[in-house]
Amino acid sequence: MERTREGQPEHTALLGDWAIGKTTLLMHWRRLQRQVGDAVVLTMAYPLTPDQFLSSLVVAIEAELATDWSGRLDLEVGLDLGVADARVRRPARSRDQELRATMRRLVDQRGGQDRAVVVFVDDIDLVSGPGDVLLQLRASALELYAGDVAFALVVAASSSLFAEVRSAHEPLVRFFQPLPLGPLDAPAAERAITGPLAETPVRFDAEVIGQIVELSGGRPYYLQKLAYHAFDAAESGRVSPTEFAGSFERAFASVSQEIFAGRWAAMSAIERQVVGVTARSTEPRPSGEIEAEAALRGIQPPTTRQALRRLVAHGHVDRISDGMRGRYSVGDRLFRRYLELQTCEP
Ligand SMILES: Nc1ncnc2c1ncn2[C@@H]1O[C@H](COP(=O)(O)OP(=O)(O)OP(=O)(O)O)[C@@H](O)[C@H]1O
Ligand SMILES: [Mg+2]
Repeated sequence: MERTREGQPEHTALLGDWAIGKTTLLMHWRRLQRQVGDAVVLTMAYPLTPDQFLSSLVVAIEAELATDWSGRLDLEVGLDLGVADARVRRPARSRDQELRATMRRLVDQRGGQDRAVVVFVDDIDLVSGPGDVLLQLRASALELYAGDVAFALVVAASSSLFAEVRSAHEPLVRFFQPLPLGPLDAPAAERAITGPLAETPVRFDAEVIGQIVELSGGRPYYLQKLAYHAFDAAESGRVSPTEFAGSFERAFASVSQEIFAGRWAAMSAIERQVVGVTARSTEPRPSGEIEAEAALRGIQPPTTRQALRRLVAHGHVDRISDGMRGRYSVGDRLFRRYLELQTCEP
């Protein structure tokens, strides 16, 4: 944002797996920016066509323009004209022209000295054909620069966003700086447990906190589930490893039902086998090893490779790249446990 204010806009793609904290971070940024007087529009994308999405973005920007006038009458008058103008002319304009005109008005009315104008779009990959939408946003932003304005776009999406927009990949990756959002590190995960607890009469044993941190892998959703059920199991204000063991099973059952069952149901028979093979080792393994093991179950190596790619794109399997080659594992401890239970021989 500093750089954007200095006239070198840095557009950003906040990328992270499901429930990793993207929306929370966008809202946090919005708060910080409003505090320093920047103009912020935060929109959430839905499963829409690109055209529907762009028009919903126009509406969101207009809504932002229509609020918080802070008693500035001059702006109010100009704004009224602006909105009326947009309404009258809408049918005659194409969607992207309309978006540009609205963005231009946002910048004219809300930008200015030391003020950045930022448009956040959460979950942009829910729009069908996110590549087209990103290209349109890019084109609109590039047009605004002619006027030398502090304007930035921040989009949030799952980690596979840029892999999905193949042909548009190059220009988009250059334009939207990828900013990966990963799990919390251990000290932050610990604070996420102990901070809220401090406001209650309940305490978790240090060993329990350690186990929750480790089992969660720093994923906020798991931290919440595990800590919630542990809290519920407290005996006279204390959760020891004994109480935790029972509460873990309830937390695990709840995550399995809410997340893993749907994930499993959406996988093909081949993907189930390949993810099962991958999950058998806790250490990341090269694709060759997984292919060899899958071959014993009658799956051809190219098929295994393809399934691995899809599993990585969905965030079910982690790929650690060392140079050109990748190593694969299921880093999510809870999901690995679910897979063990699914695939164990009766
Ligand atoms: N830094 C954090 N520390 C602790 N909890 C967090 C943190 N960030 C997010 N959370 C919690 O994790 C949960 C998921 O966060 P959030 O909805 O922001 O994730 P998301 O990446 O937007 O998810 P989705 O993929 O569903 O869009 C929320 O309940 C949120 O309160
Ligand atoms: Mg979200």
